[in-house]
Amino acid sequence: MRNRLIVALDVNSFDKAKKLVDKLSPYVNIFKVGSRLFTVCGPKIINYINKKRKKTFLDLKFFDIPNTVEGAVRAAAKYGVFMTTLHISGGFDMLKKAAGALKGKKKKPLLVGVTVLTSKAGKDIAKEVIKLALIAKKAKLDGVVCSPKETRQVKRACGNKFIVVNPGIRPLWAMRGDQRRVTTPEKAIENGADFIVVGRPIIKAKYPSLAAQKILEEMV
Ligand code: C5P
Repeated sequence: MRNRLIVALDVNSFDKAKKLVDKLSPYVNIFKVGSRLFTVCGPKIINYINKKRKKTFLDLKFFDIPNTVEGAVRAAAKYGVFMTTLHISGGFDMLKKAAGALKGKKKKPLLVGVTVLTSKAGKDIAKEVIKLALIAKKAKLDGVVCSPKETRQVKRACGNKFIVVNPGIRPLWAMRGDQRRVTTPEKAIENGADFIVVGRPIIKAKYPSLAAQKILEEMV
């Protein structure tokens, strides 16, 4: 399960991120660097995670004209990250160009498309998520980010090998915050998620490594 839990380093300084990586490294193998942390400290944090022999999920959710996103994805690959994201709603041409940028590369990150943010709730979200997932599959992305509520449907529509990453994870003992479409770690894994992303329930906990261990136990 250690290879399926991703901890979101949603903090505002390199030092805070470094402390979390140090504390959590005995239990966690993948760390997510999002737009906030990357804007604060740039690739320094990725280099630190690499140095600790851990993996980086660079979650910058690219959305721009195809040429720009292609260049951004190529730059992410140069850092040696394990996984990176772009918004599927950026369109098929953007996705195809981004996937093409990685073709034939030896060490290429998994390219996953963001469907509908888990902070959104509504009636027809599952339908929209499936529609976006099918576009991502057609553009040869490796998988998608969606809520645990849609995992089964995505796997049914796109096949079991198509990677599903689930944020919106809340153990019963954690606060929901701004997340709307949430599920417990146990249920997310049961639904078929390949990876779960957990931020605040771990990084805001009094003892982050205990929270991570608890979540790992709940994932089984
Ligand atoms: O603190 P929390 O567990 O809600 O953090 C979830 C993380 O996953 C955040 O870093 C957020 O940016 C990210 N994420 C998300 N919904 C998506 C894609 C990424 O919540 N659809």
